[in-house]
Amino acid sequence: MAEKITCTVNGVKRTLELDGWEKLLDVLREKLDLTGTKRGCDDRTCGACTVVVDGEAVHSCTFPARKADGKTIITIEGLSRGKELHPIQRALIEAGAVQCGFCTPGIVMELYALYTRNPEAPEAEIMDALERHLCRCTGYEAIREGALLAQKYMRK
Ligand code: FES
Ligand code: FES
Repeated sequence: MAEKITCTVNGVKRTLELDGWEKLLDVLREKLDLTGTKRGCDDRTCGACTVVVDGEAVHSCTFPARKADGKTIITIEGLSRGKELHPIQRALIEAGAVQCGFCTPGIVMELYALYTRNPEAPEAEIMDALERHLCRCTGYEAIREGALLAQKYMRK
């Protein structure tokens, strides 16, 4: 029998029927059409699938969807307000850290979780968080600069 879960996704309460052992990434992309969250490696290596669950950045490619029951999930679609970008998105663009953009939603969500939890996170902690993300096109220096600029914007 299909299992049902209820969770809040980007501020909207959702009841979802799960087919077996789906991962959160499958549910977000295929059932809720939230395709901003990307599938890269499917094995916790690239970070492209990162979303925020109850304030923590998680790899949705391996996060069992059933574990999302009763939780609050934020995806990249939940950050911008209409056409207005979130300050973290703005900072990464301004620092030249976005080229193809495939890795960007995951990085944005990682930084969002970190700066929400600790707006004063030291650079070492920011770099640790960024280590969970692979980027094939941008130099990591631009991503580092974007992350530091994002922290400044988030403090304001
Ligand atoms: S798709 Fe989840 S870490 Fe790469
Ligand atoms: S901007 Fe292309 S993978 Fe990061």
